[in-house]
Amino acid sequence: MSEKKRIMSVFGTRPEAIKMAPLVQALHGHPQIESLVCVTGQHRDMLDQVLTIFSITPDIDLNIMRFNQDLTSITTRTLEGLAPVLAEYQPDLILVHGDTTTSVSAALAAFYQKIPVAHVEAGLRSQDPYSPFPEEMNRCLISRLARLHFAPTESNANNLRQEHIQGLIEVTGNTVIDALLSMVYDAYTFQHPLLSDFNFAAGPAILLTAHRRENFGQPIYNICQAVRRLLQDHPSLRVIYPVHPNPQIQEPVRDYLEGVQRLNLIAPLDVQEMHNLMARCTFVMTDSGGLQEEAPALGKPVLVLRTETERPEAVAAGTVEVAGVEEEKIYQSAHALLTDPQKFDRMAMAVNPYGDGHACERIVACIEKWAGIRT
Ligand code: UD1
Ligand code: UDP
Repeated sequence: MSEKKRIMSVFGTRPEAIKMAPLVQALHGHPQIESLVCVTGQHRDMLDQVLTIFSITPDIDLNIMRFNQDLTSITTRTLEGLAPVLAEYQPDLILVHGDTTTSVSAALAAFYQKIPVAHVEAGLRSQDPYSPFPEEMNRCLISRLARLHFAPTESNANNLRQEHIQGLIEVTGNTVIDALLSMVYDAYTFQHPLLSDFNFAAGPAILLTAHRRENFGQPIYNICQAVRRLLQDHPSLRVIYPVHPNPQIQEPVRDYLEGVQRLNLIAPLDVQEMHNLMARCTFVMTDSGGLQEEAPALGKPVLVLRTETERPEAVAAGTVEVAGVEEEKIYQSAHALLTDPQKFDRMAMAVNPYGDGHACERIVACIEKWAGIRT
């Protein structure tokens, strides 16, 4: 009997953890794979929330997070932390996800030790190196470092082909749908006191999130102002805003929105609460990448609080609109969704360009083939 292949999944932030969790579970159960998990801890509390929900215990935890950290610190602490770990464990393959600084640093650390890298959620592109920043450059660099590229959609795979990226490119769907489908159900009861008592039938409820670096400063102020006006003009509207812990977001959001009536500023929700809230809200306003994939699958319109998106599939399908970061445009886009039933119905079709919930199976099958594992 041949030796097991040692595969190390490396991740550090909430969205990576959510999207890697179902894959880690599949790898953990594989008879011919020794599956290891190394977390950088780029996020601490938000990462741990996800690990708990999915019952994943990391084998290695670099615990790198610092209050109000900068990109250089995340990069250097990940590189320095991973070098001895990779040297000790000598994995046959490492898996990284998406576009965070954990992911690009882990891919580089593996490259320095000539360890092959597989990239989950490969090929997304905005074509603007500064938006999202630094994520667009991070994912371009990972594409150059990786040998296996798991693209959620055909258009993501085409982006890689156009850049002449080397290695195996496979369209697998997005693992976020695998995670989402395991979380949402009609009889779900919320743990959060606000949500367990919330009457979703009493009027529209917007789910709001914002955290992107390029929205720090004036854009976050514009978003808050637009939300204040919407609440003033729509007396039955409620807004639920789980606020990202980044001080660059916490401070302005508390300054501009604390005490506004029918606006609920709450701590980040765990992923199951979040997915079930998304399934029950009226629509979503967000600068998040993951929410742009999840909400369309649940039939919820999304207003993207950014100037572009690297996820054009749901825009083309009509469920996602890029509302920008100017107060007036954001206000008008949301106001239209609240007052124009035809627009709302057009956007509220459930479409799911991101997969059928079997992305992890396809990824595992590719890894088996690449590693010469016979099942
Ligand atoms: C990171 C990713 C971004 C991703 C986002 C998901 C990079 C460059 N950015 O950005 O792509 O969309 O995660 O949320 O990789 N903090 C806590 N507790 C936590 C997490 C964060 O207190 O659990 C605070 C800390 O003060 C930390 C700060 O938030 O320094 C910023 O975290 P960081 O990972 O640097 O940036 P994000 O904006 O979260
Ligand atoms: N999410 C969560 N709790 C929250 C906010 C978001 O569980 O309070 C989930 C969300 O459903 C999605 C992921 O976190 O699965 C997205 O993370 P985030 O918006 O932080 O990052 P991005 O996707 O923009 O990189």
